[in-house]
Amino acid sequence: MVLWLTGLPGSGKTALADRLYEYLSGKGLKVARLDGDVLRATFPETGFTREERIRHVRRAGELAAKSEKDRAIVIASLISPHREARSYARSICESFVEIYVKASLATCEKRDPKGLYKKARRGEIKNFTGIDDPYEEPEKPDIVIPTDELTLDQSFELLREFVDRRLKNAESGM
Ligand SMILES: Nc1ncnc2c1ncn2[C@@H]1O[C@H](COP(=O)(O)OP(=O)(O)OP(=O)(O)O)[C@@H](O)[C@H]1O
Ligand SMILES: [Mg+2]
Repeated sequence: MVLWLTGLPGSGKTALADRLYEYLSGKGLKVARLDGDVLRATFPETGFTREERIRHVRRAGELAAKSEKDRAIVIASLISPHREARSYARSICESFVEIYVKASLATCEKRDPKGLYKKARRGEIKNFTGIDDPYEEPEKPDIVIPTDELTLDQSFELLREFVDRRLKNAESGM
């Protein structure tokens, strides 16, 4: 199964993915993590044009599909702003679960965990998702986690319950 977290910068993807990783690996499950920032550090030539972002997300999809075949539960956390690229990832994975980590731009900008919104507003970075680059919301996500209405603990609880249900269903072949 591939648990794919998508959302604006600062929406809480990495925070939730890290907790989910701890939770699932704590249960003795084989879990693989795939994070946009880590993948970009591995392939630092990746830029932020539409084409480069799509390639980046497709590449993440390929890696996710590979780990899924190796029978790992994959937790992928990437902005993945383009529907086209997410749907490609869905198409090559066996069981792709789209998790929309949803927070308003105002909330994400207020959190600004990496200080990037500030830089984008100052014009120091161009093509920043949510500011001067698009984020295409999921049309039919499997679940929405409204992180601007919940605390981190509450958001994680919602995600954990959902994932536990999915795992139970998968076990019973539903
Ligand atoms: N309900 C919530 N759910 C998730 N994170 C929350 C919540 N409330 C506050 N936060 C905080 O918001 C921040 C989200 O940052 P995080 O790095 O997880 O975002 P991200 O979606 O991975 O962004 P990026 O795309 O830039 O990597 C964290 O500091 C987290 O603690
Ligand atoms: Mg992140």
